[in-house]
Amino acid sequence: MGGVCVAENMRRHSIATQMLKKGLEILKKEKCDIACLNVDLKKDVRKLYEKAGFTLMDRKISYENSKGVIKFDNGTMFAPILSKQTYDYIMNSTETFHYGKGYW
Ligand SMILES: CC(C)(COP(=O)(O)OP(=O)(O)OC[C@H]1O[C@@H](n2cnc3c(N)ncnc32)[C@H](O)[C@@H]1OP(=O)(O)O)[C@@H](O)C(=O)NCCC(=O)NCCS
Repeated sequence: MGGVCVAENMRRHSIATQMLKKGLEILKKEKCDIACLNVDLKKDVRKLYEKAGFTLMDRKISYENSKGVIKFDNGTMFAPILSKQTYDYIMNSTETFHYGKGYW
């Protein structure tokens, strides 16, 4: 999930919460084990995702950028969907979670 944005005059009416809920329902239908997103820690919106069931990972994740360079980032939040076991494994591991190849 990315690019969550609500028009300024419509904020704090649970619209983002409903979009997140719908997104999680779709991921469940698609049989996803876990959901993840990246929150900009400089913005004070972590609570929005926590209320939707996401928890901040206390380690950096890695991804491969468009130039093929491995980058590291913090602010990744995970939520269990179909597999609490996979979620627990990822959250409790000491390994780096790798997103894979991205367009960033
Ligand atoms: C962040 C954003 C998507 C929230 O949308 P929203 O529809 O207003 O969110 P909700 O009404 O569902 O908020 C649910 C809860 O999240 C938290 N929250 C939402 N916006 C927040 C903010 N700006 N600061 C602190 N907490 C916030 C609150 O706990 C809120 O519950 P409350 O209203 O009962 O206090 C919206 O402010 C936005 O579009 N911001 C600009 C883009 C952006 O920063 N996107 C996030 C990128 S990580």
